[in-house]
Amino acid sequence: MPRRESDEANEAVEANEAVDFDILARAARAATRYREAVAADTGQPAASYATCRQAWHGPTPETGAGAEETIDALIALAEPGLHPTTGARFFGWVVGASHPVGVAADWLTSAWGQNCGNHLGAPSAAAAEETAARWLLDILRLPAGASVGFVTGATMASFACLAAARSHVLQQAGWDVEAQGLFGAPEIHVLVGDDAHTSILATLRLLGLGRDRVKRVPAGPDGAMLVPQFRAVLASCEGPAIVIAQAGQINTGAFDPVPEMLPDIRARGAWLHVDGAFGLWARACPETAPLAAGFEGADSWATDGHKWLQTPYDCGYAIVAHPDAHRRALTAAASYLPPADVDERDPSQYVPELSRRARGFATWAMLRHLGREGIAGMVSRHCRLARRMAARLEREPGIAVLNSVSLNQVIAGFGTGEDDAEAGRLTREVIARVQSAGDCYVGGARWKGREAMRVSVISWPTGEDDIDRAADSIIDAWRTVSRHR
Ligand SMILES: Cc1ncc(COP(=O)(O)O)c(C=O)c1O
Repeated sequence: MPRRESDEANEAVEANEAVDFDILARAARAATRYREAVAADTGQPAASYATCRQAWHGPTPETGAGAEETIDALIALAEPGLHPTTGARFFGWVVGASHPVGVAADWLTSAWGQNCGNHLGAPSAAAAEETAARWLLDILRLPAGASVGFVTGATMASFACLAAARSHVLQQAGWDVEAQGLFGAPEIHVLVGDDAHTSILATLRLLGLGRDRVKRVPAGPDGAMLVPQFRAVLASCEGPAIVIAQAGQINTGAFDPVPEMLPDIRARGAWLHVDGAFGLWARACPETAPLAAGFEGADSWATDGHKWLQTPYDCGYAIVAHPDAHRRALTAAASYLPPADVDERDPSQYVPELSRRARGFATWAMLRHLGREGIAGMVSRHCRLARRMAARLEREPGIAVLNSVSLNQVIAGFGTGEDDAEAGRLTREVIARVQSAGDCYVGGARWKGREAMRVSVISWPTGEDDIDRAADSIIDAWRTVSRHR
């Protein structure tokens, strides 16, 4: 009997499907090889952005390619331009190192392909989030009744929390912002420290609260708000108000003086939001918890999974002490989506999106793997290692550590005694030399009007040897730069 065309097509589809599943193991082997190589070597990407652009450039594919060919091509194109941020000596930014347990959970999340919008469509994903949320609140010692939304990172966490804040303070003023928007609404005063993270201003812009109309509160040398100035600014505001404090300044790791700010905030009926992208995790470690004492009294908290908890990207948590405001601000209702019962939680009620990946799986896996003790131990180790780095740098003539190292952040300036312009030039040169030497990766920033080297200790594999090797590299670079000036 002659074979019909449709039979051949079906066979091809079946054959493709067989290849497609096998491709997962091929990708896993390549990923494992990559991670083993990066663990032993931390520098910077072999290929620059310009080289990558050239390599990736190509015409729109007219015909499809085989599964293996596609994935092999992806690996060959991507690997030269990968920044080894998962390595033990990556100190460039405050980023976690995508722990293999979190990555494995994340692979499964992708393979399972759950749409984490509601509990009927994704029962396991919704239940995993509920348990992970409960564990997070326990480990961070935040109110057990708070609601948690699983978002892409601290930026979207602040966005979600501030949407809840906006709803709450305007409801108290008799305005329904969800229905009426902001046109004609009572004015909301937003107070932000002078050294707040830039993502806060981005979220305020998105929420219609304006980047430039915020009230800036002067901050001290470590970037924490000054209490008398804060009180004066708050006293000058009438009507609904939102105060945004920080747990962990991006350069110094400093904490705003929340315990001293809270009585005024409460007396004023304002909402207190905490941006604790990494610093909130200080609360998970007995040694560092005093730095963030009293922060549990806030109304909302934004933090990341992909920083100190070491989940892979992307993962952040929007935590709100007023679940009604959280849900009111973010729930998207539709007739084809069954509403959650009172004791049920739909993941989409607490985040801006409807369809999204099931971030609860990787969060659950990292919390299960590290446990309360593992997280406390890691935070403690990173802070100890940051102090070790600072002590090494401080002993070297010409290097100044510019912050008091209470958390995991070290910032250093080079060329003490030189004028600002010369010290800036020297600092930039040291950073460039360290980066090209390839023993570790450090970054730079402007801090209080001067150039500084930033060292963020937040990768789970980092140990004493890594810190010593990085300190040697930085000191060597400084000695070379200083000899040739
Ligand atoms: C204090 C602070 N807030 C917010 C953010 C933004 O976090 P994400 O990039 O995860 O959105 C960061 C990132 O480093 C941060 O350090």
